[in-house]
Amino acid sequence: MDVVLVGLPGSGKSAVGRRLAARHGASFVDLDELIERQAGARIPDIFADEGEAGFRARERRAIEELGGADRSAAIRRVIAPGGGAIVDARNRWRLYRGRVPVWLDGRPEILAQRLRRSPNVRPLVSGRDPIRTLRELTSARGRFYAAAARIAGMAEVNGVVDTVERAALEAHEAAGTILLRAETTIGRLTLGEGIAGRVLVDELRRLDARRAIIVSEPGAWGHVGAAIEAPLAEAGLPCELVMLPQGEAAKTLAVVEAAARALARLHVERREPLVAVGGGALGDTAGFLAATYLRGVPFIQVPTTLVAQIDSSIGGKTGVDLPEGKNLVGAFHQPAAIVVDIALLATLPERERRAALGEAAKMAALGDERLLELL
Ligand SMILES: NC(=O)c1ccc[n+]([C@@H]2O[C@H](COP(=O)([O-])OP(=O)(O)OC[C@H]3O[C@@H](n4cnc5c(N)ncnc54)[C@H](O)[C@@H]3O)[C@@H](O)[C@H]2O)c1
Repeated sequence: MDVVLVGLPGSGKSAVGRRLAARHGASFVDLDELIERQAGARIPDIFADEGEAGFRARERRAIEELGGADRSAAIRRVIAPGGGAIVDARNRWRLYRGRVPVWLDGRPEILAQRLRRSPNVRPLVSGRDPIRTLRELTSARGRFYAAAARIAGMAEVNGVVDTVERAALEAHEAAGTILLRAETTIGRLTLGEGIAGRVLVDELRRLDARRAIIVSEPGAWGHVGAAIEAPLAEAGLPCELVMLPQGEAAKTLAVVEAAARALARLHVERREPLVAVGGGALGDTAGFLAATYLRGVPFIQVPTTLVAQIDSSIGGKTGVDLPEGKNLVGAFHQPAAIVVDIALLATLPERERRAALGEAAKMAALGDERLLELL
């Protein structure tokens, strides 16, 4: 396996990585060193000559050149990218997919002390109030680091190496790739590939659920049901399925009434979460059901269309249509968790994907330069 160590400047990626690699006869790649060798210049000089954009372009190329991931059970390579490499989604996919990312987490106060003693000047930290800068970097990057297995990186080096070793072997067993994990005021968002089942199990456990009450529709469930049901069964969580009609036909008050009656027959209680598995139409209706059944029960979104993954599952807008117009009856009801798994999109018709990309292009043009460049 390839272990990828991520974390803020000063978190010990190089020191820990070198020792971990030596212990396993693995190779060690310090990405910043590699970039310096390729450029024939030190990083502060690259920043000065080419700006941060120039450095990031070099960094992206170096990550591309790492090649394919080693998927064996033994530690064969340890990679330590610079602290900001994982902000770019392209880098993150390349570094996390098929590899085992581990986050060396540490408090900004302690990291700042370490950096003061370090001979390497870090361009993003030098010349500023280091604690404040590290706090800002934590809030900007925390959700990307949190996708990795988190360990406290602040103990004595050999102890950290032991913990990283254990965490890596454990994480190697887990299915799929987590790309992002964000605790937000509008729900805990996890994004990745091949992760829906196992993350849903974690979220249900976090909410103390003893069963999974799934609200879905045949067009989505027919494609993704198996990938979600198997991990739930393995975790001993029985599955109750409430099926709604496919597409916009789900968004009526009559469907909400029928579904609420199905919940009543299942004796669903106030603290039991509903899990919406489907596209935007299904999520809007299931969300409204969750907002109103017993005056509101917890809610988890597992979006299965691209529209739902980039838009409708996020923000808590739920509702149904009336003959007089779309979305005329609804409520704001924030999900406790949103589990975005791009593997669920594999069966999505091309037309649906394109329609959603149109929406993404609009959002990007309205004010997200990084997304615009990516698209
Ligand atoms: N709440 C919000 O903030 C918000 C935002 C945008 C859109 N919306 C609503 O979302 C709805 C549109 O969402 P949508 O485009 O996801 O529609 P949808 O839910 O009707 O899904 C589109 C089609 O894809 C099928 N499908 C779902 N998952 C699939 C999969 N993995 N593989 C193959 N087929 C699959 C469905 O069965 C359906 O036929 C509209 O009702 C719109 O009002 C809500």
